[in-house]
Amino acid sequence: MSSSLAGKRICVTGGAGFLGRSVCAKLRAESDGEIFIPRSSEYDLTQAGDVERMFDAACPEVVIHLAAEVGGIGINRKRPGRFCYANLSMGLHLIEESRRRSVEKFVQVGSVCAYPKFCDVPFREEDIWNGYPEETNAPYGVAKRALGVLIESYRAEYGFNGIYLIPVNLYGPGDNFDAETSHVIPALIRQFCHAASNGYKSVQCWGSGNASREFLYVDDAAEALVRATAIHNDSRPINLGTCREIKIADLAALLAELCEYTGEITWDATMPDGQPRRCLDTTRAATLLDWQPRVDLEEGLQRTVSWWRSQRKQPIKEVCTAP
Ligand SMILES: NC(=O)c1ccc[n+]([C@@H]2O[C@H](COP(=O)([O-])OP(=O)(O)OC[C@H]3O[C@@H](n4cnc5c(N)ncnc54)[C@H](OP(=O)(O)O)[C@@H]3O)[C@@H](O)[C@H]2O)c1
Repeated sequence: MSSSLAGKRICVTGGAGFLGRSVCAKLRAESDGEIFIPRSSEYDLTQAGDVERMFDAACPEVVIHLAAEVGGIGINRKRPGRFCYANLSMGLHLIEESRRRSVEKFVQVGSVCAYPKFCDVPFREEDIWNGYPEETNAPYGVAKRALGVLIESYRAEYGFNGIYLIPVNLYGPGDNFDAETSHVIPALIRQFCHAASNGYKSVQCWGSGNASREFLYVDDAAEALVRATAIHNDSRPINLGTCREIKIADLAALLAELCEYTGEITWDATMPDGQPRRCLDTTRAATLLDWQPRVDLEEGLQRTVSWWRSQRKQPIKEVCTAP
């Protein structure tokens, strides 16, 4: 058990989500404290009044803020205003209420989407302000950036113990496979599994296939998050990733094989690629958290495909990739 989390009342916003479920499982394994998961149906955390009510009910000593409105390029383009507002306002109210109630530790989760569109690879934490994010996810990315500033300025002015972690794209069993909102890995798995079981000869994917991404297995991200919650106490942001960059076309080939799809893969270059390249420098995570990811991409993808196959099959009609 991690001694700094022992017996603590920990509020995990978004604790019922993809990353949240894994974080809560790790917390339960490492802490005998109480875990409070505010559901959106009961507490709309974009509303200050609901955040106050949630604090009255939970009385947390530690807050891990994972709640967010997130998704792939399609939904980011469709709802830029909502994504910016919801993610900003949730963080804003939660950080302020945590300060007012003298919460011992606040963990804000950022996103690789906050990095500039054109950034030297691998992205270092110092580079986050060296340009505007890629347009399709900028409203979401800028909201995440702003919350990093709030964390830092609250530490400077109030001694608020907020920390800020920047995960790269996550994936794994339990990911969001929704046709409209999913990220690239679940979107491709849906397409290829569906094509394989229906004998399709061709599958068309979004974009050119030339963009690159880096992917972190969800349980590895959760492990880093829980470790940072337990031991990290300054507001320097920390990247969480694997340092392995892969082209979307190569990822698609890998997934097609795992899904036993043998037909042709074509690319619709009229659809956006999103950010041209993504890969994080994780030196800081290794140094400050003594953390390394354990699950390599092939193994993680295999587990994700197996999980998806074990789920009830749903009809699909779409093509949607990229974060
Ligand atoms: N997935 C990725 O690739 C990725 C990469 C980098 C960073 N992140 C960050 O990691 C965190 C978790 O992402 P995820 O993929 O696990 O997301 P997710 O599966 O969509 O879960 C998000 C959770 O947020 C909660 N939520 C949304 N709006 C809310 C509201 N208005 N009030 C209260 N709760 C609300 C939802 O709670 P209910 O279930 O109760 O509705 C949901 O469980 C986010 O901060 C995201 O920005 C994710």
